[in-house]
Amino acid sequence: MCGIVGYIGVNDTKDVLLTGLEKLEYRGYDSAGIATLNQEGVHLVKVNGRIAELREKIDPTIRATIGIGHTRWATHGKPSVSNSHPHQSVSGRFTLVHNGVIENYDEIREHYLNHVTLKSETDTEIIVQLIEVLFDQTQDVLAAFSQAMELLTGSYAIALLDQENPDLIYVAKNKSPLLVGLGENFNLVTSDAIATLKETDTYLEIEDQEIVLVERNQVMIQTLNGTVVERDPYVVEIDAGETEKGTYDHFMLKEIDQQPLMIRKIIQEYQDHTGKIKLDDHIREAMAEADRIYMIAAGTSYHAGLIGKQIIEKIAHIPVEVHIASEFSYQMPLLSEKPFFIYISQSGETADSRAVLVQTKALGHPALTLTNVSGSTLSREADFTLLLHAGPEIAVASTKAYTAQIAVLAILSIDVANQLGLPLDFDPLKELAVAASVMESLIDQKDMFKGMATDLFQTTRNAFFIGRNLDFSVAQEAALKLKEISYIQAEGFAGGELKHGTIALIEKGTPVIALSTQENVNLLIRGNIQEVLARGAKTAMISMSGLEKEHDTFVIPQVHPLLTPLVSVVPMQLLAYYAALQRGCDVDKPRNLAKSVTVE
Ligand code: G6P
Repeated sequence: MCGIVGYIGVNDTKDVLLTGLEKLEYRGYDSAGIATLNQEGVHLVKVNGRIAELREKIDPTIRATIGIGHTRWATHGKPSVSNSHPHQSVSGRFTLVHNGVIENYDEIREHYLNHVTLKSETDTEIIVQLIEVLFDQTQDVLAAFSQAMELLTGSYAIALLDQENPDLIYVAKNKSPLLVGLGENFNLVTSDAIATLKETDTYLEIEDQEIVLVERNQVMIQTLNGTVVERDPYVVEIDAGETEKGTYDHFMLKEIDQQPLMIRKIIQEYQDHTGKIKLDDHIREAMAEADRIYMIAAGTSYHAGLIGKQIIEKIAHIPVEVHIASEFSYQMPLLSEKPFFIYISQSGETADSRAVLVQTKALGHPALTLTNVSGSTLSREADFTLLLHAGPEIAVASTKAYTAQIAVLAILSIDVANQLGLPLDFDPLKELAVAASVMESLIDQKDMFKGMATDLFQTTRNAFFIGRNLDFSVAQEAALKLKEISYIQAEGFAGGELKHGTIALIEKGTPVIALSTQENVNLLIRGNIQEVLARGAKTAMISMSGLEKEHDTFVIPQVHPLLTPLVSVVPMQLLAYYAALQRGCDVDKPRNLAKSVTVE
């Protein structure tokens, strides 16, 4: 979390920094700040608010061709101006922005900084003060910077300005993402290329524990002990327009709408010229050899994993366990003899998932990452990657990444089933295409879900989503969507489990939304609806054509029974969107959240 942009060039830096930070707000939006440097010195502006407020506070007459900026998701210290980045050293010579968490900040403070009066409650400030203390001893900025990096433990992406040198930005990274963007007469640093695509499409990766010296016409990468590293840049293939809202009021609605097209793109990406599924042979073989698959993920990606498990087990007949990354790390279950790990992460940066990947790699187990971001940390560090091809997802609440993950997991399971010689009684790509068309028809009926949201959620404090089998997993995602953006307390429950305790919460008017897309539990979930109706709940039933009964609230056209989550989640996403809108919530940037969570 937290977003960093830095720029050094010949033009004024403010606009690049502010536009870049706006695009990085998905990484956190508690507070923000920029520091620019010109012949008069460093100009520091910070706000306890969003980039729009920062933009207003900046003096447009101050020009500078070098600067750094930051948008914060608070970890150490509440959101406030003093805790906002950039932070400055006591003398004011050094100014720094940081993304990550410094684990040994207490030790560093006690050991090196007991004579320094800190101005903030952050772990970040100790970095800039440490650099100054080390510089006072050596009078060599690069040596002080490298030495400081060696002393830090934890995660960091850092950009540092030295007031005495307007021609250089010092950059370093460990575990947190940071890239260098290359241009003509300018170079820049950014947490994510999508923030600076307007400036350049050419980027250089920085590896952990490297230092980069970024000048106007030169970039030098070196290791902490000073060995120079040569690395070729790469071109990012994202259209800058994909990161704009266009005619939409919110990214979330744009991303919900993009899903049918995205499923078609996924089909295209993963089929060969004969129309058959084509994946990397090595992935197929490695997975087919496994005696058990472990899926590791967080948030919405975890929910996609729950669906993926059922698809893989039914199609490829390999047992699958799905684990919440932050739990797995510190309570690893007994592993099977030949495990295969699948990391599911839209961003490819989630620290909880990465912590597990580091552990399982050390144990020598093969790992595949399913991600939307090529070149992301989880992609680079796993043995294999399958891209989601969903296009940039900007809204904090994940929608299209979830359906993309399910589609890619379905394709993967079919590829492995083929490898294992397991027969299929349906044409998988055709069925995915059918699901895309059904998604489209649901999206065309937005007004229906808008009305439903008014009816169910306008005033309620809580809500339940129930389902059985695959519908239970979709119910969990539906509840997460609703709580993330509308702040309604919501739970996704197994229909049959409600009566074992939680039904005590049902009272007059409590919204209970049920899903019924699975034939073998259709009557059972309908029984569960009767149970809550009898206790005064306000119910809605969303069923699949062929299973519907009179008075169902909405009937979804039929898709293959294993692919129902792709379509049944769409009404859930729209319900959450309209509920949040109607309650006046900030749909794309819900409180307390961030899209890319790079702290454990
Ligand atoms: C954050 C986001 C969620 C997301 C989760 C996992 O909590 O707010 O929307 O599902 O991280 O992110 P990942 O990028 O690993 O899928």
